[in-house]
Amino acid sequence: MAGGIFITFEGSEGCGKSSHIKALKDWFESKGFSCVVTREPGGTPLAEKIRGLLLERSSGEEMCSLAELFLFEAARAQHVEALIRPALAEGKVVISDRFYDSTTAYQGAARSLDADTVSLLNRIATSSLSPDLTIVLDLPASDGLARARDRDGSSADRMGSLNIEFYEAVRAAFLKLAADEPKRFRVISSAGAKEETFGRILDAVREKFGL
Ligand code: TMP
Repeated sequence: MAGGIFITFEGSEGCGKSSHIKALKDWFESKGFSCVVTREPGGTPLAEKIRGLLLERSSGEEMCSLAELFLFEAARAQHVEALIRPALAEGKVVISDRFYDSTTAYQGAARSLDADTVSLLNRIATSSLSPDLTIVLDLPASDGLARARDRDGSSADRMGSLNIEFYEAVRAAFLKLAADEPKRFRVISSAGAKEETFGRILDAVREKFGL
């Protein structure tokens, strides 16, 4: 397809993005599409280095919220320029595990940074690139955290070790974003069986792109 397809997945900790992203990639490839799976923060060697800085547990010095915001945006600028735009220009399907909506939810809503500042930096870092479809995998924050803790044990990263109120604010922010932009977003519950959730994801993709 000329111009490519850009799909992002969002959600709070433990919402199950990775396995659905992998299954969606396999589905696109079975239909003959060339598909790139990527993630934020990360996706290129430099952006992955920034990811390391963002997620490592504090070794004494606390990262301030504004430094955190700039690091997420720096990683994003590199990711968009070096990986996402070139892949879309080649007509590929790009599926990203998180994109700028995560910054709006985590740094803007949950960390309470100024919404206009976050929105402006998101626009600058992406050079106004927006996903064609954003799937929010929705789950009560307590269930997601329990899943994430089962998965990570005591090795949760810096962003995965915050309190429940933080993740509740993140969840509420994703739901608000989806309500404000219904054409781009689909909210899909990930509380039930994996197969059921993936079926709903496929329905959303088929409907959106006429596949
Ligand atoms: P992950 O665990 O889904 O790989 O995401 C890494 C963490 O970084 C997760 O806790 C969400 C957080 N994050 C932000 O706070 N802001 C952002 O802009 C992005 C992309 C991720």
